[in-house]
Amino acid sequence: MEKARQEEIDQVIDAIDLSMQEPEVEPYRQYYFIKKCRQMIAQLTDKLGQRPTANVVTFGCQMNSRDSEKLEGILADIGYTFADSEDADLVLFNTCTVRENANDKLYGRLGQLKRYKEKNPDMLIGICGCMMQEAEEVERIKKSYRYVDIVFGTHNIYKLAEILNERLEGNRQVVDVVEKADEIVEQLPNKRLYSFKSGVNIMFGCNNFCTYCIVPYVRGRERSREPEDIIREIQNLVADGVVEVMLLGQNVNSYGKNLENPISFAQLLEKVVAIDGLKRVRFMTSHPKDLSDDLIRVIKENQKICRHLHLPLQSGSTAILKKMNRGYTKESYLDLALKIRREIPEMSLTTDIIVGFPGESEEDFEDTLDVVRKVKYDSAFTFIYSKRSGTPAAKWENQVSDEVIKERFDRLLKEVQKDAANSTKKYEKETVDILVENLNDHMDGYVTGRMSNNMVVHIPGQKSLIGKIISVVLDEAKGFYYMGHMVESEV
Ligand code: 5AD
Ligand code: SF4
Repeated sequence: MEKARQEEIDQVIDAIDLSMQEPEVEPYRQYYFIKKCRQMIAQLTDKLGQRPTANVVTFGCQMNSRDSEKLEGILADIGYTFADSEDADLVLFNTCTVRENANDKLYGRLGQLKRYKEKNPDMLIGICGCMMQEAEEVERIKKSYRYVDIVFGTHNIYKLAEILNERLEGNRQVVDVVEKADEIVEQLPNKRLYSFKSGVNIMFGCNNFCTYCIVPYVRGRERSREPEDIIREIQNLVADGVVEVMLLGQNVNSYGKNLENPISFAQLLEKVVAIDGLKRVRFMTSHPKDLSDDLIRVIKENQKICRHLHLPLQSGSTAILKKMNRGYTKESYLDLALKIRREIPEMSLTTDIIVGFPGESEEDFEDTLDVVRKVKYDSAFTFIYSKRSGTPAAKWENQVSDEVIKERFDRLLKEVQKDAANSTKKYEKETVDILVENLNDHMDGYVTGRMSNNMVVHIPGQKSLIGKIISVVLDEAKGFYYMGHMVESEV
């Protein structure tokens, strides 16, 4: 995390007297439990002859990745080191439940962990995240997976130290899942995956209740962070070497509406781009129904805002969109997407599409294909509709047959792949800036970076380039990425 903030937190923790009653107020209550856990982990370190290892396994979206960084921050602070393998002293699954197959995956992995635990009696197993906000899943863990040590949900990840402390003191399964988030707890440790870029939560939860989606039930109602807290966090990140931030929310376009002093997302963005030293700003996800002209203007006027907009379509049929409770029509979505294409031609547009929503007819699906052909997405995530119990759509008749879904899914995939390949061709031979993010996994002597529009570029280069924004020539488009080389003057 940002060094200045970590030092501040450490000073407060050092001053805590553990013989006193634990404080009621957050984050001080958590500082108290962090200190208690530090003592117990220090004892475990003596016993093991080395610091215990932890592995946080993240499923799902960027929101979960960001939550995992917070969980790792607390674990690092209390004395864990990190391991890549699940054969660790603490394994924490941060789960996703947006589609059914995510749930199946988790139970498979849990079986494997039991074997590790039989070998290592000090091992702790934790499960948290969206799936644990579902009562039936928690019951299943309580009943059939007694060897799981701690269970908590999405609303109280900040309580990890308190929950761990209860488990370490009591030696029995601790389940702490709350229905509703009562507060946004600021000023806790967190560990960043990258030194040069970071996600920043601007809001939590969702109020949209799309009829297929479980997110509002597991992430709760929309809560925006105060703009001052967001700006301070980004300033601290920049002071610590971060050049790119991704502002995160389920529906960033409704940011700030419910704050005591309301502020729009466009206004927040203007404050963020004004931060000195910050080079790039991304955001995710934009709901089409709330995307304002003001936002388009702010993006257009500020080159720091990356030229990538993820604009989930879900379906191109007005009738299905109505059943989905999406709040827009085929025509209004097309108007919006084409307006963005017109106003900011270099903007890359990506989307999410669901195939096989209950009642989807061939004509409805043709409408989806029609929108895809007209918008020509730079890339699209396509999903087969997954029935989520507790959502309105799960109870609806005329669920589409697997056969029809598969056939539609393949047709859709062909269409989006064609557009994506064409869109990469667009910038061949041009010179663009990329932020170098990693060593290339497959080619020695190469590094990988991203353009402002989120496209991936591989270039010959060394580790020292990681975290830098450099000019490259895009030599060859390869479908979903480019091969390029660094501009001479920068070598
Ligand atoms: N079935 C299939 N896809 C879903 N998504 C959300 N809920 C479901 C579901 N029940 C998709 C949407 C959303 C993305 C994150 O996941 O397309 O935009
Ligand atoms: Fe789910 Fe709709 Fe909210 Fe997105 S906007 S999280 S799809 S309910």
